[in-house]
Amino acid sequence: MSDPIYVAFATQKGGVGKSTLTALVASYLHYVEGVEVAAVDCDSTQHSLNIYREHDLLVTKENPYLKKILHKFYSQFQKKPYDILLTSPADALKVTEEYMQEGNSPKVVFFDITGTINNHDIVNLIANMDYLFVPITTETGEMASSISFANNVLNRMMTTGMTIIKEMHLVWNKIGSREKPRLCEVIDRYIEKLGLDSLNTVLVKSSKFEKDGRETGNTGIFRSTMLPPDKRLLKGSNLEELVAEIRQTIKV
Ligand SMILES: Nc1ncnc2c1ncn2[C@@H]1O[C@H](COP(=O)(O)OP(=O)(O)O)[C@@H](O)[C@H]1O
Ligand SMILES: [Mg+2]
Repeated sequence: MSDPIYVAFATQKGGVGKSTLTALVASYLHYVEGVEVAAVDCDSTQHSLNIYREHDLLVTKENPYLKKILHKFYSQFQKKPYDILLTSPADALKVTEEYMQEGNSPKVVFFDITGTINNHDIVNLIANMDYLFVPITTETGEMASSISFANNVLNRMMTTGMTIIKEMHLVWNKIGSREKPRLCEVIDRYIEKLGLDSLNTVLVKSSKFEKDGRETGNTGIFRSTMLPPDKRLLKGSNLEELVAEIRQTIKV
């Protein structure tokens, strides 16, 4: 069995979409494309992935529509939901290795990492990733923070050879429908001068990213750690394009 690929959505600032993108991409790979994944929640400030899973367990019991969808999906899927390991940046690598020694063999392991690269445990964790995706938005503070984070990883880690990271790309998230051709492209030209780049796929700002299954009626769920995204909500989200680009990058 080959070693799993370690992938992280990471930045130093919260609110940019790391946990959302981790859950969306992990679920799409696992439930739609049949790629075995595991997720490691090492964001000690929030533990969002773990909260998502607890929430998903609850809503798939309480919301009659989702309960039906869950039952139907798992009668065909024949596998378990992917595991979410809850840990800290200091213990994440050890916990993941132990998980593999217990006989689990995910092809891709996603790490949800928040924090500056001034923290030793976070630096060490990031240094052990194979691929890094850095969400970035056009909100001024978040944009500056993501660029500074990626720039630090590039100059203090990647170019000094202290990491096994093979590639790092920024990912535009929460973009208004008319913003891309203007602001993102201007910023892309700027970050190119720093030696950075972003994925072609741009994720729009849309309330479906925030739907959590508490809605009543036959509203499907887009982001679930236990189900594939509802096909109706997938339309226009660019999630399929994002996953395709990530698979091409990480060669899975
Ligand atoms: N593309 C998007 N459109 C709309 N809301 C989004 C989008 N991506 C993330 N969000 C929302 O933004 C908030 C922060 O996202 P989250 O994934 O928790 O960020 P982080 O993990 O970086 O702190 C959440 O409420 C999430 O639902
Ligand atoms: Mg988070």
